Amino acid sequence: MRKQGWIVVLILLTLLGCQTKEQPVHTLKEALKDHFFMGVAVNAWQTKGTDTAAHELITSHFNSLVAENCMKSERIQPREGEFNFDEADEFVAYAEANGMHIVGHTLVWHSQAPRWFFFDETGNLVSAEVLTERLKTHIHTLVGRYKGRVHGWDVVNEAINEDGSYRESLFYQILGEDYIRLAFQFAREADPDAQLYYNDYNTMKPEKREGIYQMVKKLQDEGYRVDAIGMQCHLIMNFPSIEETEAAIVRFSELGDVMVTEMDLTILPWPSERLSADISMNYAADPKYNPYPETLSDSASVAWNNRMMDFFNVFIKHSDKITRVTMWGLTDAHTWRNNWPIRGRKDYPLLFDRENQAKPVVESIIKAALNQQSTIH
Ligand code: GLA
Repeated sequence: MRKQGWIVVLILLTLLGCQTKEQPVHTLKEALKDHFFMGVAVNAWQTKGTDTAAHELITSHFNSLVAENCMKSERIQPREGEFNFDEADEFVAYAEANGMHIVGHTLVWHSQAPRWFFFDETGNLVSAEVLTERLKTHIHTLVGRYKGRVHGWDVVNEAINEDGSYRESLFYQILGEDYIRLAFQFAREADPDAQLYYNDYNTMKPEKREGIYQMVKKLQDEGYRVDAIGMQCHLIMNFPSIEETEAAIVRFSELGDVMVTEMDLTILPWPSERLSADISMNYAADPKYNPYPETLSDSASVAWNNRMMDFFNVFIKHSDKITRVTMWGLTDAHTWRNNWPIRGRKDYPLLFDRENQAKPVVESIIKAALNQQSTIH
């Protein structure tokens, strides 16, 4: 009898053991670990660690972090020679404490850049020599400070127009294409081991895609190191198509790694008027532009989850080319989409809702990631 008792105990223990082994994988980063880094852009409240619900989500689902704002030039060097690293230091320390892959964003961007960068005391554009010196100091100081800690940098952001030509930013007006060469050169000097990226939006538009491709190819042919092209992926419901997305991934992969760097998918209608920047709250009061001021309708939710999944299916399919997919924010409560291009709307563009709950697509992504693995291995 005693022996039988032990056998029962052993059988039970074995069953329990099996159960533990077969526990379903519940998090994005675990499911996707053989495919690509799963990243998220974080804000200062989150890296302070006071929002414990956010901390829980960040650390269970993501293994790569980028700072939403604190490493942009207007924040890092608001006045010439006055560097402000407080939030950036906090961001890097938070990421390190949680064992994350770290992306620095962004060294050279025409937007959210301080005006002093481009002008002298009399209000005239500075010379090519002065701008070169300023770029060098900025990049060397910032990249140098986090040498060996930040794994990759968005070196140049948004240099190409929709038609594939160079954006006539102040950097371009003063230095021509050279500002891009210099940026990659200075970043490489400051941390030879960091990965260096070119990053842009609407990368799926064929003309823009080719403009980016040709620019990066030229840099590489000249001996500059560009390790990856970042596709921002700020998506809307009717652009881009999955086919165009796939074509861009394949095309860019000819030159190096591909990264999805700033993904979000707005459910809100794009205003028909041509908009340049934030426009007034009056638009937000118009149901035509703000159709879900309380909650998302079921049909909109299904459409959104399906479209998000279509993109992730493509990313998983091409995970031999894609090394990282980063969401531009954690939950719908804090997303720039609530305020752009119209201020004060209620959008639903991210993987977690305002109550920190995973949307249905999260479970689908996890399943798709694991299925793909089982068919491959
Ligand atoms: C661009 C920038 C990001 C962010 C988004 C929207 O894509 O690269 O840093 O500012 O716009 O806010």
